[in-house]
Amino acid sequence: DLTTQFLELPLKNPLMNASGVWCSVASQLEALAESAAGAMVSKSCTLQPRDGNPEPRYRVINGERTFGSINSMGLPNEGFAYYLRYAQRHDYEQKPLFMSISGLTLDDNLTMVDSLKDAVIPALLEVNLSCPNVPGKSQIGYDFDAMDTLLAEVSSGYQRPFGVKLPPYFDMAHFDEAAEILNRYPLVAFVTCINSIGNALVIDIDSETTLIKPKDGFGGLGGDYVLPTALANVNAFYRRCPEKTIIGCGGVKSGTEAFLHLLAGATLVQIGTSLYEEGPGIFPRVLDELAAIMDDKGYKTIADFRGKLKTI
Ligand code: DHB
Repeated sequence: DLTTQFLELPLKNPLMNASGVWCSVASQLEALAESAAGAMVSKSCTLQPRDGNPEPRYRVINGERTFGSINSMGLPNEGFAYYLRYAQRHDYEQKPLFMSISGLTLDDNLTMVDSLKDAVIPALLEVNLSCPNVPGKSQIGYDFDAMDTLLAEVSSGYQRPFGVKLPPYFDMAHFDEAAEILNRYPLVAFVTCINSIGNALVIDIDSETTLIKPKDGFGGLGGDYVLPTALANVNAFYRRCPEKTIIGCGGVKSGTEAFLHLLAGATLVQIGTSLYEEGPGIFPRVLDELAAIMDDKGYKTIADFRGKLKTI
């Protein structure tokens, strides 16, 4: 039994896409709606449409095995109004829809939040605090004063529960400080951990060049590389934010990693790099693998093991 609940909403299963993957245009969103995923999220949007960074801007990193991906998309998106129109015709009985916003300024974020509030639709708002790829824009999640201000303004503007997408943190003091800020905002109902590990540099030894074009080759890491960092962030916020629901993202390519995210405390599990590589057919595969792992271990429901990580 893979059914679960997210903020009272019943879900067929805990899997969904990671924002940015397979969710930029209506045909992709429709494919996710028809897929086996239990929920879905739209591409992080800005107030105005954007072309994003020059290509190549996403590459999978393969050697003797796969390591992950690097991307510097630069927020190519169809603009807020486009995703709002999809959200207004989405079938919420089929599955919940999250709408990710990533305004270039606080004002742009507040304009989108206002408009989403006025639309009065069941879409769940995820405010992206962690896009690493827009030249000249720093990640809000790494500026705790800016994060505090944004959460205060979005809380008072939106007046409904919402969530945030965080960058990965690497220091216990940063886990403490970020969680303390989040816990001061009761409308922050969910926290998605993690966005890509920002501004990595992947170099091809044969050609002695960067793998991607934007920002001299610097881009966000996803996939296999990021799993332990993702699990640490999921579990760090699960421990520190008992009133909030955690969504796990990072390094999921099979039932094994999905199980580990749930064990670490995630309620939903997102798939990015592997969905990019494999397409929406990945969802039934990972669900079958997760069900087999639960069966082997004698777990009948996700509640039997979710958040029950043991320490030694
Ligand atoms: C992009 C990348 C991200 O990691 C993100 O959170 C938002 C946007 C991008 O490059 O488009």
